[in-house]
Amino acid sequence: MERTLSIIKPDAVGKNHIGDIIQRFEKNGLKVISAKMMHLSKSQAEKFYEVHKARPFFKDLVSFMTTGPVFVMVLEGNNAVQVNRDLMGATDPSKAEKGTIRADFAKTIDENAVHGSDSLENAKKEIEFFFSGNEICERTR
Ligand code: CMP
Repeated sequence: MERTLSIIKPDAVGKNHIGDIIQRFEKNGLKVISAKMMHLSKSQAEKFYEVHKARPFFKDLVSFMTTGPVFVMVLEGNNAVQVNRDLMGATDPSKAEKGTIRADFAKTIDENAVHGSDSLENAKKEIEFFFSGNEICERTR
């Protein structure tokens, strides 16, 4: 059993696709064990995406991520990190496979609907960035 972090980004939230995207996760065996809606500050977005600080797209990424609220979730399931990545599709929606979240709900690499942790190690860090232990709800049934 793994846990991973998912963010529904401001573009997809703005287009009212929160439910459509969660449905993809639930239909594919992932369970939401914590969730919250929040409007990231510039410093929160900069800190979350710190690894990309030196990349040319960093400034635009931070700017986009603060344009509107995001919906942040902890997903749990077998092989959750990879399952989430497969469901999201390629970072660039124009290269994402048909039927993936990014192919269906996004148009550009800058506004690509969702973020998902890229490894189990980063999943742990990203979950801790947004959620404290007592905000995670174990599924008891
Ligand atoms: P995400 O998975 O949230 O991680 C970093 C984000 O930067 C990525 O999705 C894209 O939305 C954005 N981005 C913009 N340009 C690029 C690029 N050339 N390579 C990777 N990510 C990019």
